[in-house]
Amino acid sequence: MTLSVNSSSAEPATFDTPLLVIALARNASLPAPLGALDQSLGGTLSRSVSRRDFRGDRDEVLHLAGTDGGPKRILLVGLGEPGNRADALRRGASIAARQARKLGVASLAWYAADADEAGVEAAAVGLTLGAWRYDDLKSPPSAEERRPELESATVLAGGDDTARAVASGSAVGEGIALSRRLAMMPGNLCTPDYLAETARSIANRHGMQITVLGREEMQQQKMGSFLAVAQGTPQEPRLIALEYRRGTADAKPLVLVGKGLCFDSGGISIKPAQGMEAMKFDMCGAAGVLGAMEAIARLGLAINVVGLVGSTTNMPSGSAVKPGDVVQSHSGKFIEIINTDAEGRLVLADVLSYARRFDPAAVVDAATLTGACVVALGHTATGVFGNDEKLIQEVLAAGKRSGELGWQLPLFDEYRELMRSDVADIKNSGGRAAGASTAGIFLKEFAGSYPWVHLDIAGTAYTESDLGYIPKGPTGIPVGTFVEIARGRAS
Ligand code: BES
Ligand code: MN
Ligand code: ZN
Repeated sequence: MTLSVNSSSAEPATFDTPLLVIALARNASLPAPLGALDQSLGGTLSRSVSRRDFRGDRDEVLHLAGTDGGPKRILLVGLGEPGNRADALRRGASIAARQARKLGVASLAWYAADADEAGVEAAAVGLTLGAWRYDDLKSPPSAEERRPELESATVLAGGDDTARAVASGSAVGEGIALSRRLAMMPGNLCTPDYLAETARSIANRHGMQITVLGREEMQQQKMGSFLAVAQGTPQEPRLIALEYRRGTADAKPLVLVGKGLCFDSGGISIKPAQGMEAMKFDMCGAAGVLGAMEAIARLGLAINVVGLVGSTTNMPSGSAVKPGDVVQSHSGKFIEIINTDAEGRLVLADVLSYARRFDPAAVVDAATLTGACVVALGHTATGVFGNDEKLIQEVLAAGKRSGELGWQLPLFDEYRELMRSDVADIKNSGGRAAGASTAGIFLKEFAGSYPWVHLDIAGTAYTESDLGYIPKGPTGIPVGTFVEIARGRAS
């Protein structure tokens, strides 16, 4: 169950809520409309600020007791230095919802009388994400230990634009929540078939067309590259195509593509045991596409969008592809497989080639593709590559608006030399040098003549430590970026 967020123009001093959240920037004074509430609390709010018990530092929290007639508890949340307001509100709201869950209150109120539409939307996203958790696989606590679940939040601000912004924020938040859940699910539960079932449910709920290819259909399509990865696993590989058509009939679609490796052991070029469990997250690109399609449909955007997911698992077995094998891709090009652990690009090569049939206006793929990208940019930014400078700038701007930082990395023609094969048209690994860029160069060979951007989310799709506003696990990146690209293009 996700958080239900609504809005109200009620007066905070008399609003009956178990928890009222007030977000303040660093060194900000108490907003004037909270004077009545402050008075009913004997001046404790203004004193906490003037005594500097609460400074408004980023992620700072201060819990105060409230009253019986109005808010029962007050939570001050710091937004830090006034920089990007939407980013700060998304983060502060997430911190607040996580505090509310710890307290065990079933609902909260978010004071937002001073926020604009973008601020309210960001807060609604943050509240939804702070309330998110994945506890399907944990036994519930005993009756005495059990606390109420955080079920609803009320944004305190009047007007139609507030209600609209709350609805948009919930739509984006639910898309991200869906993507996080899929990513968090272990590989034995989140299989290629499960991703296909999830896509079916999205299609049915929102009236999208769906096509799912299995091994046989991919053989008919001559997807030798994708199938080379899938030949080591008994699980049925799935190529999923979701078509959302709410734009004009003749408008070329935006195509979103996601790498969906439900587990990446490395195959015959097997990975070290240490940390291998994190490779259940190797489907975060696919989760991003499905989460974005859910959000785009909930927003009702007037645009044509096609979501493509290439899903399988990369396993070592007697039937698995071996280093040195050569396969023919959907595009016709021959690939020498030097390293079976460079499997994501093999799957994406055929999906990017398949994307041509949709006559795309633009294609944006997302993949947990290379450890080299993590070395280059850390966990701070997504690697952004492409064949079209205008689309690259559009994607970087969309990332900024959604609080998902991207940074452009080069696709110099010189890198193509590193991918030269002795026996085939190209090999799938160019070694350690410029590893994120050579992976991008490989994909570029198989992308059509359409404008294309590749997002390497290996460092940003999940976090190995609790970040305060995001718990340990999947971040939901790149759902926000995908949604903002679609929004920017919708009429
Ligand atoms: N899924 C991995 C990339 C990855 C690494 C994602 C770390 C998240 C965290 C990908 O399939 C892979 O194994 N890439 C290889 C490529 C190499 C063999 C050319 C890598 O990065 O080592
Ligand atoms: Mn791999
Ligand atoms: Zn992988």
